[in-house]
Amino acid sequence: MKHLAIIMDGNGRWATMRGLERTAGHAEGAKAVLRAVEAAEQLGLECLSLYAFSTENHRRSKREVLGIFGIIAEFLDEVLLPYAMRKGLRIRFIGDMSRITSELMSSIARVNAATINHTGMTVIIALSYGGREEVVHAVNLLIENKLLNGDYRKISYEELEPYLYTVNLPDPDAVWRFGGYQRLSGFMPLQTTYSELFFSDKLWPDFQAEDMFALAARFAQIKRNFGEVSQ
Ligand code: FPP
Repeated sequence: MKHLAIIMDGNGRWATMRGLERTAGHAEGAKAVLRAVEAAEQLGLECLSLYAFSTENHRRSKREVLGIFGIIAEFLDEVLLPYAMRKGLRIRFIGDMSRITSELMSSIARVNAATINHTGMTVIIALSYGGREEVVHAVNLLIENKLLNGDYRKISYEELEPYLYTVNLPDPDAVWRFGGYQRLSGFMPLQTTYSELFFSDKLWPDFQAEDMFALAARFAQIKRNFGEVSQ
């Protein structure tokens, strides 16, 4: 497995079950993010994608949204950046950054600039991300470029791909959703066409490294044939 994509669901329920504010669940979810990054590195993955905040999540209360953004900014500055500097990790962000706070934008810009030339594992953080928006954004850029060049020919997927946020990254081999629901919630719709899907009833803050080791072992047993006849 080169690329694992995780949908980190269940932070709110984790907190509510304990009589805590939902934000406490997101803070605990951030600790699980570090465990996931460490486990992915131990497995030798090339890429780990994490769905941190969706386009729809903007509809939550202002208090919760600002709480999540604050937790992510603090985690980036105080935990992930120092870790990435020690381990040579590259951190990339995908999504519509026009809708996040300037505080979080500054953290992202710092982390991005400091790790852009690193050659270790790439961690992709999807923030203010929606799959439909990504596709529409890519198509609009492609059309604009083609029209500028007076090119009216039909497009192929290969021409569209470089306009996706995930340019130059391999497609996820597996998508793994936590929190008990079996849906993809718009996470990388084009890139996950051939991905294996895994679902865990665990809430994201309960994630442990051993869960990922077990998943990798299950994945290794699967024969993938990408629509061709297996030999
Ligand atoms: C889904 O749980 C989780 C989120 C919307 C936020 C995810 C944020 C983190 C894990 C914080 C740290 C992230 C990074 C990248 C450091 P939910 O609130 O929808 O849970 P629920 O389904 O129980 O309500």
